[in-house]
Amino acid sequence: MRTPIIAGNWKMNMQLATAAELVTALKNDLAPLAASNQVEIVLCPPFVYLPRVAELVQGTRIGVGAQNMYFESKGAFTGEIAPAMVADFAQYVIIGHSERRQYFHETDESVNKKIRAALAQNLKPIVCVGEALETYEMGETDIWVRGQIHGAFKDLTAAEARALIVAYEPIWAIGTGKAATGAGANAVIGISIRGALTDLYGEAVAQAVRVQYGGSVTAKNIDEFIVQPDIDGALVGGASLKADEFSAICRAGLKKFE
Ligand code: PGA
Repeated sequence: MRTPIIAGNWKMNMQLATAAELVTALKNDLAPLAASNQVEIVLCPPFVYLPRVAELVQGTRIGVGAQNMYFESKGAFTGEIAPAMVADFAQYVIIGHSERRQYFHETDESVNKKIRAALAQNLKPIVCVGEALETYEMGETDIWVRGQIHGAFKDLTAAEARALIVAYEPIWAIGTGKAATGAGANAVIGISIRGALTDLYGEAVAQAVRVQYGGSVTAKNIDEFIVQPDIDGALVGGASLKADEFSAICRAGLKKFE
C-alpha cells in the first residue's frame, strides 16, 4: 500500500512570527499522527523560512519541503537557490508548480533538470502537472497530462521514478474554490498519469508512485479525494495556512486505512 502524503504549499505567504505560530500549532496537533508513520506530512514554506521551520519540527516526523530550486549546483546565478542548499534544511521539493510554469517560464525541460538535480541530493521531488481551463474544456486533459509526465520523467530510471511524488493540480481548480470532483481527479490520475507511467516503466512502477490531488482542497472536501483508489494524498495551498484546517486535512489521510 502507498503511504498517504499531505503537503502544505504556503506559496508566498507568512512571515517569521506567523510561520512560527503556525508550525507550533501544527506540531502540537500533528506530532502523534506524524509519529504513527501512517500519514506523511510535509510543510513547504518560502525559502527564507526553511531553517526556522526545520528547527521547529525537529524531533517530530513532520517533513519540510521547498517550493522550488534551481538545477545548477552552484555559481553565478544571482537570486537562485541550489539543490544542496535546500537539502541542508528540507527532504522534499515542489517542482514545476503551475505558477512557476506560468509566471516564471518553467518548461517540461527545466522541470526534468530540476528533478534530476533534486534526486542527486536525495531530495524527494513533488512534481506538479495539470491542465489549464481551456485544455480541460477542449477535452484534451489526457494528452496534456501524459505529455507533462513524459517530459518530467524523461530519461529517469525506474528506481528514480519510484522516488517521485506527482501532484495532479488542474490549474482551473487552484485557488478558485472550484475543486475537481473526486471521481474526475481519480480518473485523470488513474488513466492519464498512471497510464503514462505504465508506458514508461510498466505497471509495477506506475502503481508504486504516489500521486496527490491539488486544487482548492479543504477540510470539507478532502474526504472526497482521499477515498479514491488512485489518489494518495493532497497538495494543499490556501487551506495549509490555517492550523485547524490543515490538521484536519492531514488526519483525513487516515481514511485510506478504513
Ligand atoms: P489551493 O492551491 O489549495 O490554494 O488551491 C493548491 C496549490 O497550488 O498547490
